[in-house]
Amino acid sequence: METRSIHVNTPEAREDALREAVRTWREGGLVAVPTETVYGLAGDALNPMAVAAIFQAKQRPSFNPLIVHLPDPGWVERLTLPGAVSPVARRLMDEFWPGPLTFLFPADPVVPDLVRAGLPTVAVRYSGHPLFHDLIQAFGKPLAAPSANRFGRITPTTGKAALDELRGRIPLVIDDGPTDHGLESTIVRVTASKIEILRHGPVPREILSQYASVTEIQPALVETQPHAPGQLKSHYAPETPLQVVEPGQWPEAIEKCRAGLLAWNPPPAGHPFAQVELLSTKHDFREAAANLFRALRRLDQAGLDLLIAERLPRSGLGVAMNDRLQRAAIPGSPYDPDAIHTGQG
Ligand code: TXA
Ligand code: MG
Repeated sequence: METRSIHVNTPEAREDALREAVRTWREGGLVAVPTETVYGLAGDALNPMAVAAIFQAKQRPSFNPLIVHLPDPGWVERLTLPGAVSPVARRLMDEFWPGPLTFLFPADPVVPDLVRAGLPTVAVRYSGHPLFHDLIQAFGKPLAAPSANRFGRITPTTGKAALDELRGRIPLVIDDGPTDHGLESTIVRVTASKIEILRHGPVPREILSQYASVTEIQPALVETQPHAPGQLKSHYAPETPLQVVEPGQWPEAIEKCRAGLLAWNPPPAGHPFAQVELLSTKHDFREAAANLFRALRRLDQAGLDLLIAERLPRSGLGVAMNDRLQRAAIPGSPYDPDAIHTGQG
């Protein structure tokens, strides 16, 4: 893929950037864009295919929840559950938005599972970068935007660095020079009476503590150990026991109970499954990732005894999907019939 970089140094270039970025997002494509903190890799947050493309471009071996950027603060009510925003959170928004402060709130189901990696919460942010603001306003919808680096690499704070990271992987980079902060936004979870800092950033603890008492969640929980058991629990896991198997190598147990199949390959005629969810008819990783959580939920709600998930090819997005399935699976295989109905809740 050819990557175009638009350097926004004239009014014409700015018009061009706005037009091309919006066109790309409407088509489900990705654009690297500046914010006041770092460059972000942005795509339509409400389009699971676009979100899958973000994970693909970043080459992460697991799904990490992404920050959802808002065109304006009014979107908070549309993306979160009623009552999610406490008075303290409201005051913080009034004070620090637009700006480098991100809030974690219980998510409305309209937020795709993939963008929150199956978590019940969504991270929202309203950036104050003038060009980013115009870009997202022109698009008119929320943008999911993690930092514009590939997995394990340094976060880009210039258009040049973003281009070096993602050249050949995305169609467009908007270059507006170096960012102001060069450090990712502060992430907080705000309850009725306290502020928990999940990631330190440009809005410091001392300032936040003027609004409510502040506690610090181990930053490790968010950044370095997304697989920590504490976090794992809050990830979506099916209630029905799930077993990951090599494609086509189904355990005998499926003959003795009502089993569902999360399939990468269509099963042959006469297969014994009560329900089958095919992740992608075209073996397309992006489509499969976009369908993954929805398919899992559907199987989980079908009143089955056992779910079988076919392991995906060990490349590209397949790696992140396998990671997700493994974490949803019952520990210990092979399948134990006594374990039916005693899977994790
Ligand atoms: O400044 C920033 O926040 C930049 C710019 C581009 O806006 N974005 C950014 O995104 O740093 P990212 O994806 O690199 O970092 C987001 C962090 C991740 O560590 C992720 O685990 C956490 O936020 N996060 C996002 N949604 C979450 C959720 N629902 N629950 C827990 N953690 C969440
Ligand atoms: Mg990052």
